Amino acid sequence: MTMHDVDVKPIPIRKNPGRLETRLPLEEMNRSGTLMKFMYPNGVPGYMTTTADHFRRILSDPRFHAKRFLGEPQPTPVSVAVPDMPGFIPSMNGPDHLAVRRLAAGDFSVKHIRDLGAKIEQVVDKYLDETEAMGSPVDLFASYCLPIPSEVIAWILGVPTTHTQEFQMAARYTIGGLPEKLTDPEAPARAIKTLHELLADVITLKRKDPQDDLITRLTKATDPVLSDEEIWGLCTNLLLAGHETTSTNAAYQIAILLDRPDVKAEFLADPDRIPDFIEELLRFKAILTDSGAGIPRLATEDVEFDGVLIEKGEWVMPCAAAANVDASVCPHSPTELDLDRTPFPHLTFGFGAHTCLGQHLARAELKVIVPKIFERFPNLASEMAVDDLPWLESGFGYRMAELPVRWK
Ligand code: HEM
Repeated sequence: MTMHDVDVKPIPIRKNPGRLETRLPLEEMNRSGTLMKFMYPNGVPGYMTTTADHFRRILSDPRFHAKRFLGEPQPTPVSVAVPDMPGFIPSMNGPDHLAVRRLAAGDFSVKHIRDLGAKIEQVVDKYLDETEAMGSPVDLFASYCLPIPSEVIAWILGVPTTHTQEFQMAARYTIGGLPEKLTDPEAPARAIKTLHELLADVITLKRKDPQDDLITRLTKATDPVLSDEEIWGLCTNLLLAGHETTSTNAAYQIAILLDRPDVKAEFLADPDRIPDFIEELLRFKAILTDSGAGIPRLATEDVEFDGVLIEKGEWVMPCAAAANVDASVCPHSPTELDLDRTPFPHLTFGFGAHTCLGQHLARAELKVIVPKIFERFPNLASEMAVDDLPWLESGFGYRMAELPVRWK
């Protein structure tokens, strides 16, 4: 095959800083059908996939290694501050990755998550009550969307309720904290240290007094046996991967329904179809990769890919947002939100060996968090149009800064 050079263009930056608008030209990328090479703001170039076929092929090709947040320069439009951790599965590959991933997989299976339904409802109700007690107007991102996923993860891990608040605060600061604290660049590293100490205590506790929870199961694992450091790394991974992503998606979904009364009426009219509607909302805006961040892969050897030579040591950024507007995934009006679409084979949760371990949990949370806010506050209204909502780039992806709402 003849190789051709690929132009390196600066990654398209949003025209209105702070707003959520698609920054990548998704349809144009999709039509091009080739890899695009972008220069990221930190000066590291990366090839971005533009179709669903690319996305699946790169993510299932073992010559491309998953590697994240380990200090070496990699293409990213956001700031990340996570040190190297043993047991951090998004940076592991091959049989070692599968062996550790398997140890946690049972706790995130469809069945296990189904059994957690009542717990999720209970946590959601708690934050509905707290939000109501705060009174209108309120920042619904901080009062409701942000704390729910971290409390559910704390429960799954087996963090004692006496430590839950500290765990949630640390979770909040690993992603840079809420906007007022963003000026402190040391906050994420401090939060990781707090998490380390807290989880070390919990691991010691579970070794002495085993319970029916994930940390206890990890302390008893034999194939492989995990060190305390690896258990800590894996638990931190679960928190980081499942906290910012789920809260931002929940907030975005609520915001878009507030912005579109027609879509909201359809969403609420048929409770049995809410799981399908959530899938379409997840497809419509794959927030993590929409910003150009998300799913980095490193070429471990020279790879010829559809006429492009990806050299050893170069990065490829599989883009779910572009894959989700590919006609093979979504044949009709792919850039439109259409709740009647069926089926919904989106790629927002990734593909291949590293596909999202917590996707059934994310779905189970979203299908409660989103409709319940409208049940509790039928007059809920946003103080801002969805396109004016402020967004931050201080975490691992692109996340909502606040969701100001009122209900009377
Ligand atoms: C809407 C919410 C979520 C989205 C959009 C999302 C998306 C993703 C994506 C795209 C990946 C693949 C990364 C890669 O291939 O390198 C991933 C991996 C992962 N996710 Fe999620 N995620 C969400 C929620 C969660 C939750 C709730 C948890 C668990 C508490 C979780 C745990 C993980 C873990 C552990 C991985 C790494 C899997 C591995 O490397 O084998 N995620 N997620």
